[in-house]
Amino acid sequence: MIDRATIDKIMDAVRIEEVIGDFVSLRKRGANYLGLCPFHQDKNPSMSVSSTKGIFKCFACGKAGNAVSFLMEHEHLTYVEALRYLAKKYHIEIVEKEETAEEIAHRMRYESLLVVTDYAQKYYADILWNTEVGKAIGLSYFHERKFTDETIRKFGLGYAASRPLTFCSKALQDGYKKEFLLAAGLCLEREGTGELYDRFFDRVMFPIHSISGRVIAFGGRTLKTDKSVAKYVNSPQSEIYDKSRSLYGIFQAKNSIAKEDKCILVEGYADVISMHQAGVTNVVASSGTSLTVEQIRLIKRFTEKVTIIYDGDAAGIKAALRGIDLVLEEGLSVKVVLLPPEDDPDSFAKSHNLIEIREYIEENEKDFISFKSDLLLEESQRDPVRRAQVIGDILQSVSAVADPILRNIYVEVVAEKFDQKIDSVLAKVSEFRSKKKALERSRRRYEDQQHQGWQPGADRPEAPLPDEEPADAQPSGYPVRDAYLAVLERELCYYLIKFGAYPLHFEKDMYYGAEPGEEITVSRYIRESLEDDGLVFVNDLYRTLFDRYYAFEATLSREDPEASQQRIIRYFTTSDDEALNQAVFDLILEEHVLTVKTYEESIPPEAQLLSTTVPKSVLIYKLRITEQQCAATTKEITLAQREGETGNLRDLVRRLQLLNTVKNRLSKELKRL
Ligand code: CTP
Ligand code: MN
Repeated sequence: MIDRATIDKIMDAVRIEEVIGDFVSLRKRGANYLGLCPFHQDKNPSMSVSSTKGIFKCFACGKAGNAVSFLMEHEHLTYVEALRYLAKKYHIEIVEKEETAEEIAHRMRYESLLVVTDYAQKYYADILWNTEVGKAIGLSYFHERKFTDETIRKFGLGYAASRPLTFCSKALQDGYKKEFLLAAGLCLEREGTGELYDRFFDRVMFPIHSISGRVIAFGGRTLKTDKSVAKYVNSPQSEIYDKSRSLYGIFQAKNSIAKEDKCILVEGYADVISMHQAGVTNVVASSGTSLTVEQIRLIKRFTEKVTIIYDGDAAGIKAALRGIDLVLEEGLSVKVVLLPPEDDPDSFAKSHNLIEIREYIEENEKDFISFKSDLLLEESQRDPVRRAQVIGDILQSVSAVADPILRNIYVEVVAEKFDQKIDSVLAKVSEFRSKKKALERSRRRYEDQQHQGWQPGADRPEAPLPDEEPADAQPSGYPVRDAYLAVLERELCYYLIKFGAYPLHFEKDMYYGAEPGEEITVSRYIRESLEDDGLVFVNDLYRTLFDRYYAFEATLSREDPEASQQRIIRYFTTSDDEALNQAVFDLILEEHVLTVKTYEESIPPEAQLLSTTVPKSVLIYKLRITEQQCAATTKEITLAQREGETGNLRDLVRRLQLLNTVKNRLSKELKRL
């Protein structure tokens, strides 16, 4: 048996693309990887591997799972063997069934430390809520900071008093061993006498939770303004607490980080808590230090999008710049929001409501590269030497961006902002990249020599060498003509790719085009309702996808929808058009995310809702187009008024009225669905 903590540790460390990559050669496709499926006779790569979700799925044979199930299936290992394999691969010590006495003691000790910190959290909370000094000092401090009781409970806040209410005396009295109180960092030992005393006293206490919600450490804030007293005292590193691997608030925030597909990063305990209280719950703090790779990987389990909110003062800005290259290297996209100079996230969250906070973030979010460029551009305005340094600095960041398409966009941004030739910027970036890669390679070679990986079974065949790193993908050959409509065109394409062959079922008078009782497929519905209004997709990518979809569909015999859909997906993900493949691939993987919970049973829960969602998407698309036309006509009217073209004006006004009627009709229909 392997204990839960070890399993968690293993699963935290696993990068599925590395695990599968040892057996199958994978190529990066956007955020995911693609390779030949080893579970059936695959001629074209049909297996996709999502690094962030930690899952793989073959779109041809349907096999899916995580790193452990991949190994179980592929290497015919048992569950425990697979875990053991992964532990070896990632150099994680495993606690196994035949433990030595020493190992058992170690594991027990780990558990004991967690028991002690849990006890301490309850103790400090009890002092806060149930003693005079706790209520008068701690609780009233939190109330002064506008934390509600509910919030205080949610974060398990507490108060560490001083004599006679010392933690160590109570803990010893309750039978907790001195050894554990020391190892958990809660108590210290007086030299000579060996007497225990508290690390935390006269402080309000912020427990720090592990990702699974167990208390692993504390931060204690003094209430004194006296500069000679340290503002924060934190638990030291211990067997259960590794500062560089923890994020404050991750336990409370993880679900909403996943749900909103975004992680907001702030600096301190109070920032996290106030944001939560204001309703922004996808927030964590790095607790005053710059991010570590481990912390980034922690975030990456839930999202690839990070938004850093910092105080608008100089220190805040500097902090925002530090360590971000690391985040970019891990393939996360980073945005920065600067608050007004007088605010920090804590005060901002208190003086604004949820809508205002959301709006402020949305409006002030700047991608990191642009943020850094603007900032440094200003600073180096008149100094050519400094300017050259600054450009080098920024291009270092650009070269850290993992996604090639994004990287190329940044190249353009920087070239424009600093008035440089794109070619020379590109050259510089690829120079930085090859330097970095060479470094990486030699580091990896060194590590390989250090630990020769354990292999299951006797003689596993050599893993195929991964292909040469694919050349950087050029930005797709399909320019976006209208980003506003692209979102909806994409959505309609999504329904085609995923459900085109599925039937829709309408209430009697829902759809004017079909005879009552007639079955109509999603694809036919979409095409006919667009054709009705003479609409053609505006964006080239989706128009191409649309056209090719119907061309291919025409060649299919009417088999069962699911089989048709499989063939359609096969056709698209293996077509000769790279950009198209990529787009379709992204569409399919999106569904992954939506149904990740149910996909083991392979029930597309969406399928049942198609009869309302598809018409809705079509209507919204039409509504947006109409709105655009209204706006354009209004503009023309203003122009005509200015020019005094009365004849033209009358026509335009009539047109606007007509458009408004259409708009109303569409809205009404939309409401009926
Ligand atoms: N920090 C720390 N040790 C310190 C100072 C700061 O660990 N001596 C960490 C804490 O996690 C703190 C964060 O850095 O929350 C930000 O520091 P600061 O802005 O000074 O603290 P706040 O938590 O914002 O404190 P407050 O708003 O109560 O003044
Ligand atoms: Mn603060």
